[in-house]
Amino acid sequence: MRKIAIISSKGGVGKTTFSFHVCHFLARSGKRVLGVDMDPQGSLSFVFFGASRKAGVWEKHLGQKISPVKVGDNLDVLPTSVETANIQWSENGVAEMLASVAGEMGAEPEWVVIDSPSSISTGTKSILNAVDSIVVPSDLTTLSLRGMVQLLKLKPSSWKVLPMRIVPTQRNTHEGQEQLAAALRGRNLEPADYLLPHISRRVAVDYAMSVGKPVWDETRYKDKQAIDEFKNAITALLERAPAVGANNGEKTETGAHPAHMATGGQINQAGAMQ
Ligand SMILES: Nc1ncnc2c1ncn2[C@@H]1O[C@H](COP(=O)(O)OP(=O)(O)OP(=O)(O)O)[C@@H](O)[C@H]1O
Ligand SMILES: [Mg+2]
Repeated sequence: MRKIAIISSKGGVGKTTFSFHVCHFLARSGKRVLGVDMDPQGSLSFVFFGASRKAGVWEKHLGQKISPVKVGDNLDVLPTSVETANIQWSENGVAEMLASVAGEMGAEPEWVVIDSPSSISTGTKSILNAVDSIVVPSDLTTLSLRGMVQLLKLKPSSWKVLPMRIVPTQRNTHEGQEQLAAALRGRNLEPADYLLPHISRRVAVDYAMSVGKPVWDETRYKDKQAIDEFKNAITALLERAPAVGANNGEKTETGAHPAHMATGGQINQAGAMQ
């Protein structure tokens, strides 16, 4: 079971949109997938199920025996609800919940894809403790980059070995990409190991989300650029995803070093990456 979190403390950068597409992409390529909505806002749950309230993370937290909701042949989703905002997650709470859900699913999922809240909280820390790798969508603005570093500081003992990929989204600029690349190079890290192909802002994506379909299935715009960008970013992510159990401080299977940004020290004068 490979566990990946789409995570960023910065809001509105495309976490849910990317999570939704990764779930569909994996399921369509024949992998058994469990999507988990860890954001009390419930955006991922809404895209999959509309406004209907379904048992999920909150009920698991109360100790109830519930199954994730089947969305397709290979895709199950554990929805959330606003009550989960009240949960104080223990360090291993999310990991334990995932193990419990997987245990009740019969066939364990090959992939768990977690959509995370835009916060720095007990939930985000518990998510970081539960997964093998993270993807950080980022518009690469100064505040977004700073948010990335603050988030990783949540897990000082082990975030240094948590493989990380960054997907530039929305209106990310060339300057932002250069700022990030400089920050990585400043720590002797090769930007190409961390950066996924970017996903630009396209009307078709917003529309696809509004009708609850991945962009390659919506029929109004059939936006080839949007489809290609999502497929390219996700393909690159999966090609470079760490092997099971790779979260041990060693190189990943493709030789890319796990991210160890933000070990302290000044990266740029703006201080975004300190
Ligand atoms: N590539 C894109 N092109 C156009 N619209 C997009 C794109 N990615 C996301 N959006 C839209 O931008 C908004 C924010 O995206 P999304 O909800 O995925 O971000 P988020 O990081 O999950 O936000 P939050 O912090 O609230 O959880 C949504 O309305 C979504 O439909
Ligand atoms: Mg979201």
